[in-house]
This record gives sequence, structure tokens and C-alpha cells, in this order.
Amino acid sequence: MNPEGQPVGACLSAVAEALAPSQMVGGGRYTLLWMIGAGGSAMLWLAQDERLGETVALKFLLPQAAADPRMLASLRQETLRCRRLAHRNVVQTYDLYEAPGETPFIIMEHVDGPSLHTLRIEQPKQVLTWQFLEPIVKQLLEALEYAHGDTLVHRDLKPANLILDQRGRLKLADFGIAAIMDDFYARVLNLRDPSGTVTFMSPQQMEGEPPVPTDDIYALGAALYELLSGQPPFHTGDIAHQVRNVAPQPILARLRQLKLKHDLPATAATLIMACLKKDAAERPQTPRAVGKWLGLHLGSEYLAPPRGQGASEPAGHWRMTRAGRMIKLPLRSEPVPSEHFWFALSIALSVLLLAAFIYWWLRIRAH
Ligand SMILES: Nc1ncnc2c1ncn2[C@@H]1O[C@H](COP(=O)(O)OP(=O)(O)OP(=O)(O)O)[C@@H](O)[C@H]1O
Ligand SMILES: [Mg+2]
Repeated sequence: MNPEGQPVGACLSAVAEALAPSQMVGGGRYTLLWMIGAGGSAMLWLAQDERLGETVALKFLLPQAAADPRMLASLRQETLRCRRLAHRNVVQTYDLYEAPGETPFIIMEHVDGPSLHTLRIEQPKQVLTWQFLEPIVKQLLEALEYAHGDTLVHRDLKPANLILDQRGRLKLADFGIAAIMDDFYARVLNLRDPSGTVTFMSPQQMEGEPPVPTDDIYALGAALYELLSGQPPFHTGDIAHQVRNVAPQPILARLRQLKLKHDLPATAATLIMACLKKDAAERPQTPRAVGKWLGLHLGSEYLAPPRGQGASEPAGHWRMTRAGRMIKLPLRSEPVPSEHFWFALSIALSVLLLAAFIYWWLRIRAH
């Protein structure tokens, strides 16, 4: 219940009733098409951006959230940080719309495929195979490695936020934003975990410690556990207590107990359990370390650089040559002449020059 005595569902349905297909929002820029879904704390609509002529996803906040200056301030700050994330496996955040008399919303890229949560529950046994998940895990690790490198931690990594596009490419949704909304619910509406995210939350995050990459590593372990076995590590009773104090059942034992046929290799099973360690120092420390454990080679090529302060700089990333010089490489791997190439070229030119000189000298002598 919120301070006005309404359950959160009632607040969401109040927002839902205020919105309808064909309605124009955002000062007439967006036409609502249909509702994609509702999470624990917001409502997602597909809309047409009339100015740019493309479809976008709009995430509507609760009116209470919109009326909370602290919530709006942190959401503005987080939207700004998320806009800098430009990676092929991260849902692009475009903007936050706020205007008097309108429900505020976040404008983001629309992904035209199912989430891993939806896909899992559509399966006959409600589980996904490792063979299917492995390439998705690789893309997820690349997205996390990129974001962590820009000091952004997701804090709400879960199957509903892992969405596939029509080509089967992973897009990670809700960077930073869902966690802010959940904080708001806990603080203002006195509601714990409206979206069921506690299942994937590290013990440290649950204690309210500042976000660190190992929170996402924990959530990755918990998400994979659920996707492969149909259940998160802790699923009945006092989950928050168990996340803090009880060792999770090893995933292979859970799969045996549930009599599920599976293709999960022992290394991946051990990795999942390592991600779920209570002590953050005992988890793999980075997405790259997880990739190494699984024998996955993470690419380092990004589609676009962060759009932050460096936006005016030409796109590229820095690399140190063997001679210790820093050179900027283009983002798409256009061939860059190496130092060996320049050395070989100067030798070839010198030989050519010498040959021309000898030829000229012999001709002079012959005359
Ligand atoms: N950018 C997007 N494009 C397409 N579908 C999306 C996008 N973002 C989220 N979804 C889907 O819309 C639904 C609602 O998303 P929403 O983020 O509101 O809730 P959630 O992820 O289930 O929970 P939470 O409130 O913790 O974020 C989910 O099924 C999600 O997979
Ligand atoms: Mg979400």
C-alpha cells in the first residue's frame, strides 16, 4: 500500500486508464500504438515517433514517482548516464519526457522480439537449453563489460530485461532505471520488490551497498539458474533471508531433483554457482572473467562510442603499439597500417632508390 492507501497495481491501472491507443503524448510527438507490458513499477507502450518516423518504446512512471523530486532527479541523472551507452547489445535510452500535466516517460529503443522470460515459459518444460543460451550469454557479457568499463552497473539484470530482436540478437533493457524505481517504491511507498527482482539481487545490493559489477555477476548467475532449471536459486519462503544466509542448491542437483534432461556442461554449472557466492570477492570479478571461465572470447568492437563528453572526438578507441605509442583505432576494424608495414615500405623505397642510382651511374660510365 502506498501512503494514500492504494496498492501499487491500482496506481498502475490508473496510469493504464489514462492511456489509450492512438493517443498523442509528449507534446504531440508520439502516437501510442499498444501496450507492450507492465512490470512491477511501470508500464511500457509501443509508440510511433511522428517526428522521426520510427517506433519507440515509452516507459510510463507512476504519478507518485513523477511527484517525487528526489526520484525524478535521480532518474534524470541515470537517463543521462544511460544515453551514453551505445552498444549493439544494450537497449538504447533516448530521453526522459517531463511536462506539466503529463505522466512522465522514458523514451527508448523498441526491441521487436520476446524476452528470455517469455521464451522460457513458452517452452514445454519451461526451461531453455545451454546450447541456446551460450551465444546469448556471450553477448550479455560483452554488453556488461562495455557498461562496467563506463562505470555503469545494471542492478536489475533478470530474464524479463533480456530481450531478443527479430534476428535473435540480445538487447539488455533497463540499465540503471528499474533499480531506481524499485528504490523509490521501497522508500516512498514502503513496498519491497514490486517486480520480484529480489530473486536476482545480490546480498550486497539487498543491504543497500553502493552498486558494483559483482552485483551484476550475481544476478547473471541467478538468471541463468532460472532459465536452465525453471526456478531461481531461492523461490519459496523468506527469499531475502535465504539470499543473505543460505547456500543455494547446486544447479546440477536441482536439475536432477526436478528430473530435467539438460545439456549443461560441468564448467558452466560450476561457473553459475561461483557467480552466486555470498561473498562478492569469491565471485568472478568481471564479465570478461566469466567469459574466460566459459571459454568464450569476448569481442572488443563496439558499434558506437559512449556519447558523453567525448562526443565531438572522432570515433575510435585507444590501443598501445609494441613501441609503447598510443594510437587511435577506428571502431569498425578498417585495416590500420602497422609499424611493420611502414618499415617494409621504407626498405623497399631505399632499395628502389639505390637500384636507380646504380643504373644511372652505370649508364654514365658506359658513355
Ligand atoms: N525496449 C523494449 N522493447 C520491447 N520490449 C520491452 C522493452 N523494455 C521492456 N520490454 C518488455 O516489456 C515488458 C514490461 O517491461 P518493464 O521493464 O516495465 O517490466 P519488467 O522488466 O518485467 O520489470 P521491472 O519493473 O523490474 O523493469 C517486459 O515483458 C519486457 O520484456
Ligand atoms: Mg524491465
